[in-house]
Amino acid sequence: MYCETPEEIDKAFWLLPPRPVVLVSTIDKKGNQNVAPHCEFIKLYEGPFLIAIEKSHDTFKNILETKEFVVSIPTIDIAKKIAITGKPFPKGVSEFEKAGLTPLKASKVKAPLVKECCANFECKLIKELGSVGTESILVGEILCTHYKKVGPSEEETRLSTKAALHVHKGRIYTTINKETIDTKIDYTKL
Ligand SMILES: Cc1cc2nc3c(=O)[nH]c(=O)nc-3n(C[C@H](O)[C@H](O)[C@H](O)COP(=O)(O)O)c2cc1C
Repeated sequence: MYCETPEEIDKAFWLLPPRPVVLVSTIDKKGNQNVAPHCEFIKLYEGPFLIAIEKSHDTFKNILETKEFVVSIPTIDIAKKIAITGKPFPKGVSEFEKAGLTPLKASKVKAPLVKECCANFECKLIKELGSVGTESILVGEILCTHYKKVGPSEEETRLSTKAALHVHKGRIYTTINKETIDTKIDYTKL
């Protein structure tokens, strides 16, 4: 079927399988903490993260200001918190407080780790690759990594990971084990 309306085009995009979601935490020049969910990223094999971020977002402005950020892997049990951190809170309002997440002191950067996440990667901005429309692609070299055991069993295989995958509109999340949560949260509205 040839898609003509935005609704039809949307339906075609819904066929994309769920994709990993990470939280990106930053601080601004004054030290205000910020955290927001991001799906448009890849981790290069034995290399840095490439992340596409809207240039109007606080996350983007903070990274350019401070040249650092933390990428954290959230688990499915904090799906609602992920959705809340995506909301358009005014600059200076901490999504950590709004979502009930715990900032932890990082080792090599000033941006905080997220305690509730199963892995945290402290990154330094090494390059801005350039703009694609309203977004810009940033390259973050990993300075150090933090890891926490999670999962229903001691068996720490890829197949038992509880890491959250984003399914639909910032609202629905799943895992590769198919535990799916509809947070009923519209992240685009306060
Ligand atoms: C699951 C999910 C994934 C998202 N992925 C991205 C992304 O990859 N890039 C981006 O610029 N915004 C993305 N967003 C939107 C931002 O997280 C959202 O607009 C947020 O309010 C930006 O906050 P900030 O202004 O504090 O950076 C995503 C939102 C959700 C809920």
